[in-house]
Formats: sequence, structure tokens, C-alpha cells
Amino acid sequence: MSSSNVLGVGSTALVTGASRGIGTLIAHAIAHEGGHVVLTGRSAADLRAVTSELAAAGADVSFVPADLTQPGAATNLAETIERQRGGVDLLVNNAGGDPLREFHTMTIDENLRTLQLNLVAPVALSHAVLAGMLRRGRGHIVNISAMAGRVSFPYTEVYAAAKDGVIGFTRVLRSDYRPHGVSASVLILGAIRDAGQGQRMLDESGMKASRFMAPAEAVARAVVTAVKKDRAELVIMPGPGRLLRAVMDYFPGLGPAVNRAAGADATMQKIIELREPKTGVSA
Ligand SMILES: NC(=O)c1ccc[n+]([C@@H]2O[C@H](COP(=O)([O-])OP(=O)(O)OC[C@H]3O[C@@H](n4cnc5c(N)ncnc54)[C@H](OP(=O)(O)O)[C@@H]3O)[C@@H](O)[C@H]2O)c1
Repeated sequence: MSSSNVLGVGSTALVTGASRGIGTLIAHAIAHEGGHVVLTGRSAADLRAVTSELAAAGADVSFVPADLTQPGAATNLAETIERQRGGVDLLVNNAGGDPLREFHTMTIDENLRTLQLNLVAPVALSHAVLAGMLRRGRGHIVNISAMAGRVSFPYTEVYAAAKDGVIGFTRVLRSDYRPHGVSASVLILGAIRDAGQGQRMLDESGMKASRFMAPAEAVARAVVTAVKKDRAELVIMPGPGRLLRAVMDYFPGLGPAVNRAAGADATMQKIIELREPKTGVSA
């Protein structure tokens, strides 16, 4: 069974999307457990800066740049780490995000890139590291999902599809491979403050964080908890997140009302106007 033996001295973790945002905090929390952490993302300069920062704080870290939307990127990354470190014990599929633009104003290729980054890349990377994990009889894959689909967060059609897909993928992966020593967990994030896309959106719009936003540090802690306690699913948002998620499934019409109440509609409208002043939303 997967457990804390994929953390700590002698283990290797791979964290995607670790060049900025929430991923840097996840990398830091895992490194704090004592094992080696490989950071990845597209920007070599950002990865170098985060690696230096974490190493200065005592972490055992390295980085390998990769664009996970490119064909073969997942296999190349897994093979590089296999050569350098002997394999990946813990994979955190954190890289992701949404362009925060209206579905109909983006081309279909732009929309499909969102699917590629948020769903295809985690599947491909999980597939690429799984054989090594099974050979060694230990491993854990943590996937980062989002509440977007459940709460009908405005203009996240493809992102929501991808993030809901990640939940289904993780459930089946966990069920199939736990008997062989490889487990999987999914973290379902509400809006996050202090780092990452949600905070940038606030900074861009000049708006303040709402009480519905959880701190990025809570996500980093939850990754460690998910691995140590081998948890199937954790919802990261203030209040009874899992209950809210269940209620949203039962009453799907509630999502838009919650978005209005939480100010998500107004924030997204402002962001879209800032980015695409000529398009706006048709009534
Ligand atoms: N922030 C929130 O409020 C929130 C809410 C719910 C869920 N989430 C999820 O949490 C995760 C982290 O989000 P975040 O807010 O920290 O995002 P972020 O600040 O935008 O960071 C995204 C990370 O993904 C990497 N990335 C983007 N495109 C990539 C590509 N093609 N190939 C490889 N790496 C790529 C970026 O690095 P490079 O640019 O260097 O490639 C960066 O390190 C995502 O999965 C997101 O969907 C976030």
C-alpha cells in the first residue's frame, strides 16, 4: 500500500507547475519531508530561481524544464528522471490553469490546449511513471483538480471538463493500482489566495480576496496529508467543502447563484473586459 514511504529521505517526487504559483509551495512542503524534489514547468529561468530559493532553505531539489502540451514530453520527462534519480516515487500533477477567456471567443485549438494541459498531460505523465512505480512496488500520484465544474464557475467550460475528468481518472487509478502498492489522490480546489492564478486575477482586477478563498499553503499541506494518510479525495476550501460539492451535484442550479453571491461573476466579467475589451458578453 502506498504511504509515507514515498516521502522523506531516499524518495524522489516530481511536481509539475512548480515554476510559480501553488506548485512552488507544494514543492517546498514535500521537500520539507526530507526527500528529493524535481520541479518542472516551461520556464527554465523561473525553475532555476525557485530551485535556488528552496535549496537556500535547505531543500534537496533540482529541475527539468518541459512543455507538457508537447507530444512525447511526459515520456521524455519520466525517462530523464529515471536516468538521473532512478525513478519517481511521488508525482504531483499540479500544472494547469485556465485562459480566463470566453469559450466562444477562443478558437477550438485554444480550447483544446486547455484540455491538453489540464487532463491529457496528467494522464500521460501518470502513465509514464506508473511502470517504474509498479516495478518498485511503491508510488503515489496526487492530481490537482478544481471545483469549477461543480459550481459552474463562469467561462471555464473546457477547464471544468478537464478537472472533472481528472477526478474520474484518479478514482479508477486508485482502485486499480492500490493493491499493487501505487495509490492516487485528488485534491479538489476552490478558489485559492496568496499565490497562483486566483491571486493574480485579484491583483489584476484590484479586488480583495473573498472569505471563500483558501490560502495556497493549505493546498501544499493537503498534498502531504493526502500521501501520508492515503486519502482518496480532499476538498480545499473554507467551510464544509465536500458537503458543498455534494449539494452542488444534487442541485446543479445552485452554482450560478453561489457565483453571484461570492462575487465570482463580477470578478470574471472584469477580467474578461480587461483582457478582451471589444468582445464582452452577449446578453
Ligand atoms: N489558483 C487557484 O485559485 C486554483 C483554483 C482551483 C484549481 N487550481 C489548480 O491548481 C493548479 C496550480 O494553479 P496555479 O494557480 O498555481 O497556476 P499558475 O500560477 O498559473 O501556475 C501554473 C503552473 O503550470 C505551469 N504550466 C503552465 N503551462 C504549462 C505547460 N504547457 N507545460 C508545463 N507546465 C506548464 C506553469 O509554469 P510555466 O509557465 O513555467 O510553464 C506554472 O508553474 C492548477 O492545476 C490549477 O488548475 C488553482
